[in-house]
Amino acid sequence: MTAGTRTDRTRRTRRIDPLAGLVGAGAPVPLVTGGTTPYANLDIAASAPALQAVADRVAEFLPHYSSVHRGAGYASAVSTAAYETARRTIGAFVGARPDDVVQVVRHTTDALNLLASAVPGDVVVLDIEHHANLLPWRANGVRTVPAHPTVAATLAALEHELARTPAALLAVTGASNVTGEILPLAELVAIAHRHGARIAVDGAQLVPHHRIHVAELGIDYLAFSGHKLFAPYGAGVLVGRRDWLDAAPPYLAGGGAVTHVTTDSVTWGAAPARHEAGTPNVVGAVALAAACEVLAALPDGALVRHDEDLRDRLIGRLEAIDGVRTLQLWRGEVDVLALATFTVEGHCAELVAQYLSAEHGIGVRDGRFCAHPLLRRLTGGATAVRASLGLGSSSDDVDRLADAIEDLVARGPRWTYGPDHLPTPDPRQLPAWVSVTDVTSACGS
Ligand code: ALA
Repeated sequence: MTAGTRTDRTRRTRRIDPLAGLVGAGAPVPLVTGGTTPYANLDIAASAPALQAVADRVAEFLPHYSSVHRGAGYASAVSTAAYETARRTIGAFVGARPDDVVQVVRHTTDALNLLASAVPGDVVVLDIEHHANLLPWRANGVRTVPAHPTVAATLAALEHELARTPAALLAVTGASNVTGEILPLAELVAIAHRHGARIAVDGAQLVPHHRIHVAELGIDYLAFSGHKLFAPYGAGVLVGRRDWLDAAPPYLAGGGAVTHVTTDSVTWGAAPARHEAGTPNVVGAVALAAACEVLAALPDGALVRHDEDLRDRLIGRLEAIDGVRTLQLWRGEVDVLALATFTVEGHCAELVAQYLSAEHGIGVRDGRFCAHPLLRRLTGGATAVRASLGLGSSSDDVDRLADAIEDLVARGPRWTYGPDHLPTPDPRQLPAWVSVTDVTSACGS
């Protein structure tokens, strides 16, 4: 099913509770007009708040926190077992093959940089990727294929490129962080394998919304981030085939990655230890595994149904507003996440995002979403606004956004905004323990 445009405004989509309770959900945020309102977090494609169950697991683990694979004490035994249990849980969640490696890294960018250091040949990418899946490959021979106006033509262009000159790897996103469109992974796997290439899927956006089964789909490598999977404790993963990882130079040189060292020689261990030198982020791994457990425990299809309901309402309501344009590459051809990137005629994206926050307590992202080539294609390079929702969101969140945009289009902002589009004056206070207050977001990001 693809994103619909009809919206049944009487049909409510509730948060998926109780498993999916989020830390800080509905916490009050200040408005420039005075008072507070419950925060509507429509920016979870950038970073999602922690699931309460994840925070609870971290709290349960912290009294046992100690060194991993390095200590003789009881706490070290618990920490080491917790770390390796997390690796196993995460691998099972994504349906990894028994001989796959689960590398604990920092986030998707880190995972793809690690893979880039291990690829024994050219990499082929589409030009719709975010920077994490464009820039790491530039150290390799990278060949960028422009996406076409239809999915079929895009797949044909990739097939042509891989047939023309062999490549080691096809690296694709599972779902675009800008349009939310889900790529046809089964077809992409078939194309890569038909031409002797492996496939790496950047699952940063897709994994929080859809279950992915690496072995069933035939995906060779999958990367994703804890901070987008409701586990913001600094860990992500690269899951995939062992041989390239065992043959690659260690990602970091240091303790834990070796089996033997003399003053002038070193014997490196096998993956995953080979690429995890230094004390690992066991808290992050435990948190990420806990998030995987929560998502795995949801009833079959519940997450996708929830996502589709939110998406239909989001896109339907936004497209019904005069002057609002949602951005997509292959409209009507592919499924879309509960995410919409849009422009509002007569109002620049920075102003729209600041207005939503300042006057309505709604958090969105604006800019070029670390996907500059794709924005050039979709808007000519102009910035846009992105609203993104997920398992902690409800139709009330969508309605708050759409009502606020309707109001902006009808009446304009009520507050005043400076040349940089920031609210002026801005009486909102940051928490007292935050001392650096003159921060601005990276508008070109
Ligand atoms: N890729 C992340 C986003 O889309 C950073 O916000």
